[in-house]
Amino acid sequence: MDAFTFHNPTKLIFGKDQITQLPTQLPGGTKKVLLVYGGGSIKRNGVYDEVMKQLSQADVEVFELSGVEPNPKLTTVERGVEICKKEKIDFLLAVGGGSVIDCTKTIAAGAEFDGAPWDLVTRKSKPKAALPFGTVLTLAATGSEMNAGAVITNWETNEKYGWGAAPLTNPAFSILDPAYTVSVPRDQTIYGVVDMMTHMLEQYFHTPTQSPVQDEMIEGVLRTVIETAPELLKDLESVEHRETVLYAGTIALNGMLQMGYRGDWASHNIEHAVSAVHDIPHAGGLAILFPNWMKHNLDVDEQRFVQLAVKVFGVTKEGKSDREVAEEGIEELRKFWSSIGAPETLRYYDIDDDKFDVIIDRAMKRGPFGNFSQLHKEDVEKILEMSK
Ligand code: NZQ
Ligand code: ZN
Repeated sequence: MDAFTFHNPTKLIFGKDQITQLPTQLPGGTKKVLLVYGGGSIKRNGVYDEVMKQLSQADVEVFELSGVEPNPKLTTVERGVEICKKEKIDFLLAVGGGSVIDCTKTIAAGAEFDGAPWDLVTRKSKPKAALPFGTVLTLAATGSEMNAGAVITNWETNEKYGWGAAPLTNPAFSILDPAYTVSVPRDQTIYGVVDMMTHMLEQYFHTPTQSPVQDEMIEGVLRTVIETAPELLKDLESVEHRETVLYAGTIALNGMLQMGYRGDWASHNIEHAVSAVHDIPHAGGLAILFPNWMKHNLDVDEQRFVQLAVKVFGVTKEGKSDREVAEEGIEELRKFWSSIGAPETLRYYDIDDDKFDVIIDRAMKRGPFGNFSQLHKEDVEKILEMSK
């Protein structure tokens, strides 16, 4: 393992009715809260009312920023920063999925920054301070509720980047009530499952591979998600299955599984470039790209692929070469995602190779990338070609 220091400052508050903890989690002296949310799902499922009820007990003035879009836009971040500066907001509360949380993180830092928020996202400037914020998560997927990362899209330039500045962009607390995720529609439930699985897979493919504890943890959580997702999709209202998947999504990307090494993350980089140009759901892109990234990198460390095939997908080794076992594992992953309804090719979103040059340009903007295997322009092109 590489040397590491682990510190996750987010207080995780998990379980039924835990929203009642909200008033006591606000920092002492909080007077003005900016409530940030998306396109209205929280109004339809009652979460908005519950949050407002709790805030009313906290003696704070509540301001609102609604309409945060999936794949949150820079312009929405800018609107939020403006409200914070004008109204002298002292705390932000994100209520929603990863998009709402990412937007909130960037507003929190932008509010305490003199320059343009985009300079933070592109990492041209580093924030020195940020407003404190908490989250109420309504969708199991990104892990944003317990990490410092945020992904923002600039539609003027077709750029979508992940950024973050721990501990400034770590939520102070996150409240996760599985019942709040019951209303997540089928397609977003599928995307959430694919996203959290890909987060674990991105981390599974790493060097050095002396990481038996981390491997077992990832393999175990992956198997659990693979067992639970089909059951959940048969009964979207099962709070029990929602709970399992919600916890898995947080564990998948809160740093627990990534101690002692860096994950690969190249597929995420390519996906962000694809959705910066075509505005597709993040995990839809991942379901298409990740198996092709795997095929492209089979030779980097075949044994990693064999281990995944055997330990996660139960592929048997008898009478097969390592290569055959490794390839069967990739096929099993693809088959599993298809079986739950995730897309296999870019054609699903009507994407052809028309704008591949723009996607490649955006993916390469920060130079070659990927830690398990470093990708250059030609590699990205090949993976996109395989994904058509
Ligand atoms: O906007 P509303 O009306 O709230 O509806 C949302 C949205 O349409 C809906 N939704 C959320 N909770 C719901 C619900 N509908 C019914 N009931 C509920 N309880 O779901 C739709 C998608 O929401 P979104 O927040 O966009 O989904 P997700 O959580 O998957 O977030 C995706 C974004 O996160 C980024 C992605 O790139 C993408 O921009 N990521 C962030 C990461 C991070 N910060 O660590 C890591 C990820 O890899 C990812 O890149
Ligand atoms: Zn992701």
